[in-house]
Amino acid sequence: MTQRRILVTAALPYANGPIHLGHLVEYIQTDIWVRFQKLRGHRCIYLCADDTHGTAIMLRAQKEGRSEEEIIAETQTAHERDFAGFQIEFDNYGSTHSDENRQLCAEIWSSIRKAGLVKEKEIQQLYDVEAGTFLADRFVRGTCPNCKAENQPGDNCSKCGATYSPAELTDPVSAITQTTPELRPATHLFIELEKLHDFLDEWTQAPGRMPEEIAKYLKGQFLGSDQPSGDDGESGRKELRDWDISRPAPYFGFEIPDSPGNYWYVWFDAPIGYMASTKQWCDKHGESFDDWWRSAETEIHHFIGKDIAYFHTLFWPGMLKSAGFTLPTRVQIHGFLTVDGAKMSKSEGTFVKAETFLKYLDPSYLRYYYASKMGPRVDDLDLNLDEFASKVRSDLVGKIVNLASRTAKFAHSTGLSAEYPDDGGLFAQGAAQGDQIADAYENYDYNKAMRLILELADRANPYIEGREPWNLRKDPQRQQELQDVCTVGMNLFWQIVVYLSPVLPKLAEQTGELFGQPITNWEQSQTPLTGIAINKFKHLMERVDPEKITAMIEESKVSDEPAEDSSNPYNDSDQPLKDEPICDEITIDDFAKVDLRVARVLEAEHVEEARKLLKLKLSLGGNETRQVFAGIKEAYEPEKLVGRLVIMVANLAPRKMRFGLSEGMVAAGGPGGPDVFLLGIDEGAQPGQRVH
Ligand code: 2FM
Ligand code: ZN
Repeated sequence: MTQRRILVTAALPYANGPIHLGHLVEYIQTDIWVRFQKLRGHRCIYLCADDTHGTAIMLRAQKEGRSEEEIIAETQTAHERDFAGFQIEFDNYGSTHSDENRQLCAEIWSSIRKAGLVKEKEIQQLYDVEAGTFLADRFVRGTCPNCKAENQPGDNCSKCGATYSPAELTDPVSAITQTTPELRPATHLFIELEKLHDFLDEWTQAPGRMPEEIAKYLKGQFLGSDQPSGDDGESGRKELRDWDISRPAPYFGFEIPDSPGNYWYVWFDAPIGYMASTKQWCDKHGESFDDWWRSAETEIHHFIGKDIAYFHTLFWPGMLKSAGFTLPTRVQIHGFLTVDGAKMSKSEGTFVKAETFLKYLDPSYLRYYYASKMGPRVDDLDLNLDEFASKVRSDLVGKIVNLASRTAKFAHSTGLSAEYPDDGGLFAQGAAQGDQIADAYENYDYNKAMRLILELADRANPYIEGREPWNLRKDPQRQQELQDVCTVGMNLFWQIVVYLSPVLPKLAEQTGELFGQPITNWEQSQTPLTGIAINKFKHLMERVDPEKITAMIEESKVSDEPAEDSSNPYNDSDQPLKDEPICDEITIDDFAKVDLRVARVLEAEHVEEARKLLKLKLSLGGNETRQVFAGIKEAYEPEKLVGRLVIMVANLAPRKMRFGLSEGMVAAGGPGGPDVFLLGIDEGAQPGQRVH
């Protein structure tokens, strides 16, 4: 077999959130494929990185009052920990916020410019007047112009996958101030994708390039056909839209070297992150980068989800083509994860973080379960929790591990027979099935591979049951027979584990220890082992404890949906408005009757007889002062108030109270008691000024 050189990537996870079971569909699918290729003796590297740029991370940094760098460093550590926990083994895990990425972006950008594909255009961009900033991508939410799904981010619809500019959203709302933004002109840089139309048409439609349904979708939706589309004889060809590739400051990303003040849109530098991660790996291992990204000998395979197909099948090959890099051999695309038939939900506890799963359950369970449900098509994958537990119990523990538990102890005392005994052709049949199993792995049909492997176990178990090694053990005359039966049982187990090792690397490792030799290549499934000692048997795998599943779901339950699905990226509760609905409408003249003024607290003291009140002496500037009794005693220490600016209602009729006259009111929010929050005003305001 000729050795292939294969570069594999999985989509780069965003650096603003944890890895969850939905992400793991892809990373496990890819890891299995890579392990399979390595087992077959090919040169294969698996690259990934954190996707760090863009507006989502900026919003989070703003909200948490931290730098983007701090957040991405912390997230990367957590991501790498979670991947390792699931035995997802990258050859390199980088970051798009790296020097390698910056340099590659600049190089590719300059090639795209030279190819004449970049043009400047003045566009109408949404501008948040209150915040004084243009609103890029996720800083706006609104209704998708394509499928009309509400509450979508400004760049890419999570429901239908369409890409668009924020200005195209219906009913846009700023995520910063919750106000309706206005349109203002701004100059952006665009890549003219239409100039690559013929190339993209040919490339996307090449057989085997991607799942057929996606190739057809691209053709119908974006590229169109060169055949006349109707009776009018007109061509059905569609024009590819220019791709808006720049964002004005403020933006967390790389500034475009020849366009100061503008940044590359995150989707420009993200896929280049695949290359940057390769570059890091090459530098660490003394390899040539060009062997991997500028060589017809190298196959490039991207694994992605269906929501980001557009970026990987049109923009990305377009970029690679214009910059003279190797084009992907295959873009493998999977569907979404549902849990018990429904979208993952935080309130139901089915939005399970990788970290939470690992706290309760063995990662091998999920690797096996996903593998048993994964095919080559773009279908969604349902994690049915009952089926999950029963598959582990019946397939893994009951059929596979059981082969070893019933023969390994005897084999440990005798070693394997010197000659491989007559097993009625079982091992040879299993070896012959190897090519079919390999084809299934190669073609992403893990479900088929698992079924074929289980067939081997279904033949092996009756053999053991029929030969009853536990009874042979009791008969001193039949010890050779016992050794032979255990030699067969152990070899059938070994063969199955070699085939399963891309899916269950931990079981493969334990099996390697048991046999005193590691599982490292596919060929080990073809010849039985004889005359070797077997090490002491250690327990290999437990059944799923249903209580652990329940505990995992319970721990994952939180009351709010993920921030990304909410119109409010800060995840603020809707309770306050429910508790106190907005009052009847008033006119501006009504409002003008309330004279709000900036005031400084000159004195503040407890009112001994009152449980809730503080007595404040407020200055309105000069010698003008007011005495106000405020219900803020449980929330504020009087001495901490002295000197600060507050907002007071200055024209409220004075009220005679038991402790003295109250000549106004200080403005505050909150339900009361310790939860009272005085209104402040920004630096520079002067006592006496009116608040409008
Ligand atoms: O959709 C996502 O999660 C992106 N962060 C994937 C990026 S893949 C690649 F292009 F970088
Ligand atoms: Zn949509």
